[in-house]
Amino acid sequence: MLLASPSNPTGTSIEPDELRRIVETVRARGGSTIVDETYQGLSYDAQPVSALSYGDDVVTVNSFSKYFNMTGWRLGWLVVPHAMVSAVEKLSQNLFICASALAQHAALACFEPETLAIYEARRLEFKQRRDYIVPALRSLGFGAPVVPDGAFYVYADTASVHHPAAGNSDALTHSMLHDAGVVLVPGADFGFHAPERYIRLSYATAHSKLEKAVRRLGTLFSR
Ligand SMILES: Cc1ncc(COP(=O)(O)O)c(C=O)c1O
Repeated sequence: MLLASPSNPTGTSIEPDELRRIVETVRARGGSTIVDETYQGLSYDAQPVSALSYGDDVVTVNSFSKYFNMTGWRLGWLVVPHAMVSAVEKLSQNLFICASALAQHAALACFEPETLAIYEARRLEFKQRRDYIVPALRSLGFGAPVVPDGAFYVYADTASVHHPAAGNSDALTHSMLHDAGVVLVPGADFGFHAPERYIRLSYATAHSKLEKAVRRLGTLFSR
């Protein structure tokens, strides 16, 4: 069972008791649970709980790309059960050998107190953007049934926006790009649950740009 929490594209986390039940159910059926916790450092509400709390047989995946701001450095880590270490070593030697020395030195600097202070300030900045953009999307007519608690995404329902392409995320994102200069990603990239209705917004951009995008979409939807 492969899960991501917080998830891309919804920015929501699996509730701890629910995750525990998933791990127990998968274990009872002889399976393994692998949880991508790449966005866990970017949690805004409850204190996040790692899936590792639910047993030594759980695998977690993590990355320096998001909280540590090292997107593109190709550096991450796995926590694996002891019994899997030898097999994962064989895989990693053949697929990867090792991370570049440059990336490893940069990652060490992530744990300096002054660097961690910057990450914490960034996390709070993301929280402020979330607190701005979710109500703003709702006031533009998008459906956002839950407030995302992590990552930097909102997965919004387009069915009720005032636009001829409402409910058609491909056509709507095309119009937003060409008629308003605002880029969002249509749901088709993210799975099978009504992808034609949903769009993903990323708020990994400056607050002022989010405000500009909201103004432009307001104009587009009032035509
Ligand atoms: C859930 C999730 N995991 C991992 C990644 C990418 O991590 P990396 O840059 O380490 O490949 C992303 C990037 O969008 C993501 O959304």
